[in-house]
Amino acid sequence: MPESLPVLPIGGLAAPRGWRDRLRAWREACLSSPRFQRWAAAFPPTRPIARRNARALFDVVAGFVYSQVLHACVQLDLLPRLRGRPATVEELAAELRLRPDAVACLLRAAVSLRLVEARGAGRFGLGEQGAALLGNPGAIAMVRHHAVLYRDLADPAAMLRAERGSTGLARYWAYAADAAPGELPADRVDEYTSLMAESQGLVASEILGAYAMGRHRVLLDVGGGDGSFLAAAAARWPQLQLRLFDLPPVVERARRRFAAAGLEARASLCGGDFRRDPLPTGADLVSLVRVLHDHDDEVVLRILREVARVLPPDGRVLIAEPMSGTSGAEPMGDAYFGLYLFAMGSGRPRTVDELAALLDAAGFGPPVTHRTHVPLLTRVVVAAPRRDRRSVNLA
Ligand SMILES: C[S@@+](CC[C@H](N)C(=O)[O-])C[C@H]1O[C@@H](n2cnc3c(N)ncnc32)[C@H](O)[C@@H]1O
Repeated sequence: MPESLPVLPIGGLAAPRGWRDRLRAWREACLSSPRFQRWAAAFPPTRPIARRNARALFDVVAGFVYSQVLHACVQLDLLPRLRGRPATVEELAAELRLRPDAVACLLRAAVSLRLVEARGAGRFGLGEQGAALLGNPGAIAMVRHHAVLYRDLADPAAMLRAERGSTGLARYWAYAADAAPGELPADRVDEYTSLMAESQGLVASEILGAYAMGRHRVLLDVGGGDGSFLAAAAARWPQLQLRLFDLPPVVERARRRFAAAGLEARASLCGGDFRRDPLPTGADLVSLVRVLHDHDDEVVLRILREVARVLPPDGRVLIAEPMSGTSGAEPMGDAYFGLYLFAMGSGRPRTVDELAALLDAAGFGPPVTHRTHVPLLTRVVVAAPRRDRRSVNLA
């Protein structure tokens, strides 16, 4: 132990009360003491922990720069250029019309993040993470889209103080701040609908891998976007009839998509605003894919009550979205989606327990969690209407 440990702080804003508080105050004082930090970094048994913690802290400090390295690779189409075709700094400088020192700087940064890999003889190829990213066009689309998020986050304290609806993200997700989303024109929904369609492939395969739909006849996808999820479900479960509910101009996109895929005979589409309009009846499975986290509790309750109303007694609601408190992916829920949705001005990531409370209040029984392979991308919970279907007000 260091010769003299920091003295327990007493007083301040609120004096520690029980022994746990006193222990935590002692730990805080140790960890923030430069002398303790020097000692922990030098003492062999604590050295690996100190290094790991220092690295984790540096990653948090530098995370924005890492993201911008990735953004530069995406903006310059660097990764597709390197696919199966390693190149030198000079070759890339000529192709990208950048100075060689700028290319060398970007490549060194990208190598450190495993996006790119040095291949010898001065050549660079795709790194492990770069290759994985190329297999995921949805993630690349999100990287481009993050330009809007990062503009809002350039002054995070200002973003936290901003009026709801005044951010770039609130303008992007037009339904989030609009009092009458049912009247939005096509040009306000097109960009986000394309972004969602691009990232739907992996999400759909996670959901369809987690929940078997063999016993269902009719699947209604509420907030179903351009129909990408329904098209994937239709391919996996040929007995399913399809229904889609979304804002009117989004439904028109789905109509074109289903026509192109030859799915018109299996699908019926309904345009409306789920904050005020009734949902179509007839489905025995209703899915809400990446929908509830966009909305505040009153809207979520309204949607779930409406779902409970239209489902038959043996029906199910399926909720799929990234959730707060996901083990091993905690920063994704509360740091990434928490700030993202706050900047958007509507909704929040919820834990399974918080969703269970809303489901209960809307008249559903306890939800069952179905395992997905990548819970960071989406989790899946399924619930059945309670016999009484009595919905209650949340306190
Ligand atoms: C985040 S997107 C998810 C789309 C799709 N489920 C997916 O995962 O790709 C949310 C969807 O909910 C729809 N939506 C938002 N507010 C709505 C409202 N008030 N009524 C009907 N649909 C709405 C949007 O148009 C959008 O298609």
